[in-house]
Amino acid sequence: MSQASLDTSLFGPLLFDPYDYDFHEDPYPTYRRLREEAPLYRNDELGFWALSRHADVITGFRDNTRLSSANGVSLDPSAYGPHAHKVMSFLAMDDPRHLRMRQLVSKGFTPRRVADMQGRILELTLGHLEPALETGEFDWISEVAGKLPMDVISELMGVPQQDRAEIRRMADLVVHREEGVPDVPVAAMEASLNLVGYYADMLTERRARRTEDLTSALLDAEMDGDRLTDDEIIGFMFLMVVAGNETTTKLLGNALYWGAAGKDEAAKVLRDPERAPEWTEETLRYDTSSQIVARTAATDIDLHGRTIPEGGKVLLLIGSANRDSEVFEDADEYRIGRDSTNKLASFGGGVHFCLGAHLARLEANTALEQFARRVADYDVDFDRCERVHSTNVRGFAALPLKVTRRH
Ligand code: HEM
Repeated sequence: MSQASLDTSLFGPLLFDPYDYDFHEDPYPTYRRLREEAPLYRNDELGFWALSRHADVITGFRDNTRLSSANGVSLDPSAYGPHAHKVMSFLAMDDPRHLRMRQLVSKGFTPRRVADMQGRILELTLGHLEPALETGEFDWISEVAGKLPMDVISELMGVPQQDRAEIRRMADLVVHREEGVPDVPVAAMEASLNLVGYYADMLTERRARRTEDLTSALLDAEMDGDRLTDDEIIGFMFLMVVAGNETTTKLLGNALYWGAAGKDEAAKVLRDPERAPEWTEETLRYDTSSQIVARTAATDIDLHGRTIPEGGKVLLLIGSANRDSEVFEDADEYRIGRDSTNKLASFGGGVHFCLGAHLARLEANTALEQFARRVADYDVDFDRCERVHSTNVRGFAALPLKVTRRH
């Protein structure tokens, strides 16, 4: 018997089920087998194809002619339930429609506006971090990581303080999935409806009275006489709160989790807080918070000796691409300080490259640096960490910490 067939029989049949809670615990052994045994994987029951190698995922992101986003970029049938028509997110559009809307949104969501947030991000970080550290023991997600991205996005958009906790609760519900059930839970659909309703009201208010926020800027954004419709602005707000908030919260949680696990890699940054960006980058690679995006084949695609038929759903496995040993040395090792420049699949690629990548990095670098400046050492209570269950977002709902402050 050959080594390959021995290995296959030892590990059993290769099943990749993104709804399986055991898979969520540790998806990386499955990803490895997909890369090695089935680089173009087919799940007949759930009706999708999956690409797991770094080269294929990156090519997939760039090939927006053959791989369309227009039927949605989530594995789930319709992540927004019956309100999908309201959520006119350009994430789920192809060019030229996508390009038009991305350009219009970019008129409000400018690098300048993000850069101007730097001082405010520091204040917001310290506002959550200082009181939490005072207590010595606290939940990193509920006290810091879960609050900061929502605060930042809310300040950008002009959402008042008193509404933020409820919006965060709804955003959590939107991405949550029941074990083994591909259908979108009713609670997730209700939460989508509530979010859409909230932003519609906010837009009505801003239309009557402009302020300095991004919402007002989006209402005024104009290109060759073209403007964003209300549904398009609501779609963008929805996208920021779900795609931008959840992912950044989880990135911050994953950083502290892996920083303390194994070889205590965080010690490198606790000794030298200016290395915080390296902590962010390695977490984005090793256990990124946005794991899977979907595309639809716009034509038959021949790959790895098989054919994806036109209309087939194709998953791009970002988390797997980031662990491909063809690209990353000792890919399964969490090593702060490795150079992953221009190799990460974490923010996608091509025309849909994450619009918030800079903002997410700014937030994570600030929070991790300020944490490192104040903390001599910390422990994660691994037994009490609670994982979020989603087909895309990867990270924790609870991450209890015990910290020793610097003197
Ligand atoms: C797109 C990941 C934070 C806004 C994307 C895509 C990925 C991604 C993978 C590409 C999706 C696709 O090609 O279908 C992440 C991760 C984040 C993060 C891992 C944090 C760690 C943010 C933030 C914002 C944001 C903070 C905004 C405030 C967007 C938008 C798009 C996008 C608007 C759509 C761009 C387009 O379709 O042209 N993000 N994101 N993201 N992201 Fe992010």
